[in-house]
Amino acid sequence: MSQYILQTDQLSIKFGGIVAVNQVSLSVKPGIIFGLIGPNGAGKTTMFNLLTGIYKPTEGKIFFKGEDITALGPHKVSALGISRTFQNIRLLKDHTVFENIMLASHTSLSYKFIDALFYSKKYKSEEYEKKKFVNELLEKYEMTHLKELNANDLPQGIQRKIEIVRAIATGAELIFLDEPAAGLNPVETDELMDLVKKLKEEGKTIFLIEHDMKLVKGICDEITVLNFGKKIDQGTYEKVISNSEVVEAYLGRRKQHAHG
Ligand SMILES: Nc1ncnc2c1ncn2[C@@H]1O[C@H](COP(=O)(O)OP(=O)(O)OP(=O)(O)O)[C@@H](O)[C@H]1O
Ligand SMILES: [Mg+2]
Repeated sequence: MSQYILQTDQLSIKFGGIVAVNQVSLSVKPGIIFGLIGPNGAGKTTMFNLLTGIYKPTEGKIFFKGEDITALGPHKVSALGISRTFQNIRLLKDHTVFENIMLASHTSLSYKFIDALFYSKKYKSEEYEKKKFVNELLEKYEMTHLKELNANDLPQGIQRKIEIVRAIATGAELIFLDEPAAGLNPVETDELMDLVKKLKEEGKTIFLIEHDMKLVKGICDEITVLNFGKKIDQGTYEKVISNSEVVEAYLGRRKQHAHG
């Protein structure tokens, strides 16, 4: 087995004339918080879409625990133990916190539609197990008091947390978070950092995209920097921010920063 949970080898994708990800090779050790940073349009989300099977690369390969997953679609990637959150929060509107997490946990259990249809013993006992599992997750992440509330009535910080707990509910070992601190206030960001550190302590590997440098500095063990689809540096926070090419990449595009 590979010593890395995730590796890419010369990964590229082109959209028409744009090379959105350009020959990116990276290796992620298990159990760390790995940060992917870079200016707007650098190719970060596209990288996530490649790694989770949403896009197929034009070139290059992706390995999960040494196994080539380049050709797998999103469902197969998820079944292997990889989960993600999106840049714009995607929760089921008008559903409770409990329901949002319960739905995610479906993918990890084995009963078939036919069992549900006939409301079989197996279905009933799996439903029971699932509810128990979701209740335990809510308890563990201190959300029991919110479980019957509508997800869309809750503050951004809580909505992010629901998304993250939902990602965990699939049983994933490797979790991708796309700008988890976007739209959060400083208190919510601190709480988010504590949650991500807790996931690391539980043995999960976290791969996150983030513009909030306080968060990146505070929790990332290793960082890769993208600019115009290319990897321009990797290493610790101190190392990458002292690289003049990284500083220029940010300064050069700060004026174009225009998203929420
Ligand atoms: N499906 C697509 N079709 C065409 N171009 C795309 C597609 N997806 C991404 N791109 C382009 O790829 C480039 C990288 O976009 P991406 O969303 O990955 O950037 P990002 O680093 O996540 O930026 P941000 O920080 O603003 O979220 C952009 O030029 C974008 O327009
Ligand atoms: Mg993005």
